[in-house]
Amino acid sequence: MSAKLNHLAAWHHESDRIWTQQIAASLKHYAAPALRTQPKQFRSVGLIFFNPSLRTRTSMEVAAARLGAHVTTIVPGSGVWGFEWNEGQVMDGKAAEHVHEAFGVLSRYYDTLGVRVFASGTDYAKDREDALLHQVIRASTVPVISLESAFYHPCQALADAATLHQHFDKDVVGKKFVLAWGYHPKALPMAVPNSALLMASRLGMQVTVARPNGFELDPEVISTAAGYAKQHGQELTESDNLDEACKDADVIYVKAWGGRLRYQNHRAEQELRDRHKDWRLGVQQLGHAAFMHCLPVRRGVVVDEDVLYAPGAIHLLQAEFRLYAQMAILERAWT
Ligand code: CP
Repeated sequence: MSAKLNHLAAWHHESDRIWTQQIAASLKHYAAPALRTQPKQFRSVGLIFFNPSLRTRTSMEVAAARLGAHVTTIVPGSGVWGFEWNEGQVMDGKAAEHVHEAFGVLSRYYDTLGVRVFASGTDYAKDREDALLHQVIRASTVPVISLESAFYHPCQALADAATLHQHFDKDVVGKKFVLAWGYHPKALPMAVPNSALLMASRLGMQVTVARPNGFELDPEVISTAAGYAKQHGQELTESDNLDEACKDADVIYVKAWGGRLRYQNHRAEQELRDRHKDWRLGVQQLGHAAFMHCLPVRRGVVVDEDVLYAPGAIHLLQAEFRLYAQMAILERAWT
């Protein structure tokens, strides 16, 4: 048998070459299109993570497996080639493969792709347009699921909405939702706060964004969220006082994010952020409110450790809903 395989691989016999070539052509012509419309056990999902992940990666892997699909996780530069993003680049550096070819190829193997690509942190206009995610979408010919882009984390927001619905037994309209900035030693992206803000406003919650001056979210995102709030008869408010903002809250969603100043002056943004190391939610501010965080969370830095054990802490339920949200997203992509 092994001798025969060796022969096949080495094309010692012209008849082997012709047979294999004909079968491959038939599979491409008849089997591949048929498989793409077949039940889920024949589906394939490729997950490409340009940035680290625990929840998004594992929940998507398990979601695909539970639906019976085959899933591959790819970390560019680790076991696969490093990717080049720039068009017109002479690729004589580390990157061996351009994103255009990479996603063109992966689209021919997978029915659905998922991509995580964070903000550059250097070009605000490009980040707010999600330029890298759109570059991936343009290069792909199958549906692409955002696993967190420069400006939005839709999978997280869907899980958060499901969590809120369960926690408040679907009675979410008018509940006070505080999106509270937390200090972090790094200038984290705005994807989660942007999506959380839009999600809570769309649910008709009474939303307050609590952040120090200099850490305002994008005006267009704020304006869109205010529009959603208005549709439900609510008003979106902003505050630079954490204690005041947390009063009478039904839910406090803590998240750290960097100020827009980092795009002009990294050091100045760091200095401004470091002046707010005391912006850390404690149990007193939490009171009887529910506590949410997308995770990972730095204990004693972003929130006091006690908060994570408070009766209202639902951050693990939130993480659990990631799995069911991912299953729903895949179902949606395949129907
Ligand atoms: N919340 C979230 O997206 O977690 P990961 O970064 O671990 O995927």
